[in-house]
Amino acid sequence: MNSHTPAIACHQLVKSYPGRPPTLAVRGIDLVVERGECFGMLGPNGAGKTTTIEILEGLLEPTSGDVEVLGLKWKSDQRRLREQIGVSLQETRLSEKLTVRETICLFRSFYAKGLDPWAALDLVGLREKAAARVGQVSGGERQRLAVATAIVGWPELVFLDEPTTGLDPQSRRQIWDIVEAFKSQGRTVVLTTHYMDEAERLCDRLAIVDSGKIIATGTPTDLIHSLGGAHMVEVSGNRAEDFSLPIDLLSRLPSVKSVSVRDGVASLLTASPHIVLPPLVAALEQEGYRLTRLTTRQASLDDVFVQLSGRHLNEPVAVA
Ligand SMILES: Nc1ncnc2c1ncn2[C@@H]1O[C@H](COP(=O)(O)OP(=O)(O)O)[C@@H](O)[C@H]1O
Ligand SMILES: [Mg+2]
Repeated sequence: MNSHTPAIACHQLVKSYPGRPPTLAVRGIDLVVERGECFGMLGPNGAGKTTTIEILEGLLEPTSGDVEVLGLKWKSDQRRLREQIGVSLQETRLSEKLTVRETICLFRSFYAKGLDPWAALDLVGLREKAAARVGQVSGGERQRLAVATAIVGWPELVFLDEPTTGLDPQSRRQIWDIVEAFKSQGRTVVLTTHYMDEAERLCDRLAIVDSGKIIATGTPTDLIHSLGGAHMVEVSGNRAEDFSLPIDLLSRLPSVKSVSVRDGVASLLTASPHIVLPPLVAALEQEGYRLTRLTTRQASLDDVFVQLSGRHLNEPVAVA
């Protein structure tokens, strides 16, 4: 195996699911994931993340396009590839009757080399649950077990599809720690998520996907800086019965890069909140507005998504 090749390289990936009409789930995706990085695909439900990752995992055939994983191709090198990758599916169906330890041992048996099952259980903090049946552990524990099944062969590359969806904050942080521990050993992680905080925390680089396409790629910091300011000033207010804010006026304030309004809250993107705030307050006061809210926060990957797509990441998609 040539370790100089990227972990993943795919070119013009397209996937159309048959039907009337067919669903064009992936519409020409190009990706290069380097070895040792944690690469994320961030996008809303239906963006094509699972379809893409399952093609990369060799579980789905693309309609067209080329995929190389660890310098190998699924058609000719299926066995070698399976040995070197680990997979955790979006909805992992593990046998409820097996114990946690039996499950780990089963997945360990798929690999010639790998972790000792107890070491894998320790890594995900499930030693105490070793004898529990899978059907009886909590959602967070089950998800940690799913991640453990993906890394027990200590693969070069691990795929995690929405590893923390539906979990409570503490369970999510536990999964993040496991991913970071795995990555710190020089391994490659490809994950999908619709949580911007997860992408920001875990990913060295990410692709923002929407409607089967990559709409932006970069480090989380670069993506946020691409907005043209790293802060959001959010303001709402009213005068008499008038709740609409004077957008033109807000846009003309010094250091304001852009203004968007949603649900009566105006969000002002800026690099310098300290420059924006005094004239903002003065201008609204002068126009007779009473402020009902004034906050500043760091700009986020969701703001990047909004700027590119006009929607929020976790907004329900309108069904046509
Ligand atoms: N097996 C399938 N048959 C038909 N359409 C599908 C199938 N799987 C997914 N889709 C559709 O493809 C699009 C992308 O889905 P998916 O890859 O699951 O997105 P994500 O993981 O980002 O939520 C969606 O419109 C979804 O309804
Ligand atoms: Mg999915």
